[in-house]
Amino acid sequence: MAQHTFLKGDANWWRQATIYQIYPRSFADVNGDGLGDIKGITSRVDYLHKLGIDAVWLSPFYPSPLADGGYDVADYRNVDPRLGTLADFDEMLEALHAVDIRVFVDIVPNHSSDQHPWFQEALKAGPGSAARDRYIFRDGKGANGEEPPSDWISHFGPRGWTRVTEPDGTPGQWYLHLFAPEQPDFNWDNQDVYDDFITTLRFWADRGVDGYRVDVAHALKKDMSDPMPSIKSFDYAVTGEDVLKTIFDREELHQVYREWRKVFNEYDPPRVAIAEANAPLYRRPLYASPDELGQAINFDILHQPWRAKKFKTSISNALTLAQAAGSSSTWVLSSHDEVRHASRYGLPKGTNYDNWLMTDGTVPGINYTRGLRRARAAEMLLLALPGCTYIYQGEELGLPEVADLHDKDLQDPIWIRDGKTRKGRDGCRVPLPWTREGSSFGFGTGGSHLPQPEWFGDYSVEAEDGVPGSTLELYREAISLRKQLQSEEQLEWIDSPAKTLHFARPNGWQSFTNFGAKNVPAPAGKVLLASRPLKGNLVPKNTTVWIQAS
Ligand code: NOJ
Repeated sequence: MAQHTFLKGDANWWRQATIYQIYPRSFADVNGDGLGDIKGITSRVDYLHKLGIDAVWLSPFYPSPLADGGYDVADYRNVDPRLGTLADFDEMLEALHAVDIRVFVDIVPNHSSDQHPWFQEALKAGPGSAARDRYIFRDGKGANGEEPPSDWISHFGPRGWTRVTEPDGTPGQWYLHLFAPEQPDFNWDNQDVYDDFITTLRFWADRGVDGYRVDVAHALKKDMSDPMPSIKSFDYAVTGEDVLKTIFDREELHQVYREWRKVFNEYDPPRVAIAEANAPLYRRPLYASPDELGQAINFDILHQPWRAKKFKTSISNALTLAQAAGSSSTWVLSSHDEVRHASRYGLPKGTNYDNWLMTDGTVPGINYTRGLRRARAAEMLLLALPGCTYIYQGEELGLPEVADLHDKDLQDPIWIRDGKTRKGRDGCRVPLPWTREGSSFGFGTGGSHLPQPEWFGDYSVEAEDGVPGSTLELYREAISLRKQLQSEEQLEWIDSPAKTLHFARPNGWQSFTNFGAKNVPAPAGKVLLASRPLKGNLVPKNTTVWIQAS
């Protein structure tokens, strides 16, 4: 039996934590195959420790054919051999725990890979079998079943159903996939499915994992009774909550999470979880309540334009929802699914990011200086808020999106499934630059699975480490200060000039952000940190400053 390390301590460690998201295939590559690996993470523990974070969240590292960047899992209780072994995982966990960094793994319960042994078994077993009941198979409509059972779309492309060929070679049933066809949806009314995920949760918790991020947490339970309503958009504003309720955010889903909570609470400290839940805002507190997952990702601020009023409303709403849930709020500006925020903030207001990527990032033009200034200011603002801040790998370097990836290099299923009209999410998943020059800028010795642009070295760890004013040093300082100042107490808004946001936290800590175009006087007090040097007593545009008020 391998040595497993457990981090004990305060059961509430997560409530005000700073959490760093690692997309393992693009973090660091030790075995030189162009794909990041588990040993790569272990090799960078010092870097993570110096950043001052409390936990890492690892996107999937499980065996996977990579039809959707690893969110198509073929074996939930193992490590992809290209990324290492379970022994490597244990070693990584031990190294992270040794410096008090906790570890979240990604649980993907809505769908598996089509290469998962259960799906392969279901294909062979044929209609009506117990094996098919673990997924959502239905007969097609039309004289010969040639029409899908309903008009449901998928997140990646026009159709949410795919027809299979039966073992005797005839065209057969259809299966549901809310994402790519390589990601068949599980039937969560099936006991095997339910039991297997409990086994998976325990498997990782027993190894010492501290928490879980739960993928597509809102969609596990579905009402598959006929007639199925029309669902041609997953947008609540378009389809309506009453209809989307057929597949999203069903009441019985919450019973699943209440059962999971019992498992989490068997451990000391209890394992924690965060829901990725696309439920209506007013329903999110359910997922975040202490008897369910405990926290829910708040994406709202990520979608706000750089405007003081919009930020203020978003912050107030998120804090109210978290309080209603008895949870703490979460804050996030970038992830493996979004255009990096250093680029978003450099683009003109109202830019459609999909269209911008289709022009290789040339139209409309981008202002990188402005983008980075706003990105730094936004992150300092977020770090001053009560709750957890999530940092996506590379944003601490100020990395912009790689917008000009060549068609042939794109991996995201969105590209093919949407008829090559959207490039998808590869531009934020390009492997990290660690050194100014050299083989894949220090990512590894064997190239990089998504090509890095020439300018990547300018944003490398080597280029920023120890350089006063660099984005990396700003993050390090801000995270360390926050650690000393952060508490559960709520913020108090302070009246401030138009286009600025000013709030107080306990013990005289204040944060002030200038969203406008003019310099404005800094609040009274000692300057603790600024995202950009002040001009005398003036806070320049696109700047956040932290003040110690007397
Ligand atoms: C959300 C994940 O963040 C995304 O990357 C993935 O494609 C979908 N869920 C499907 O698993």
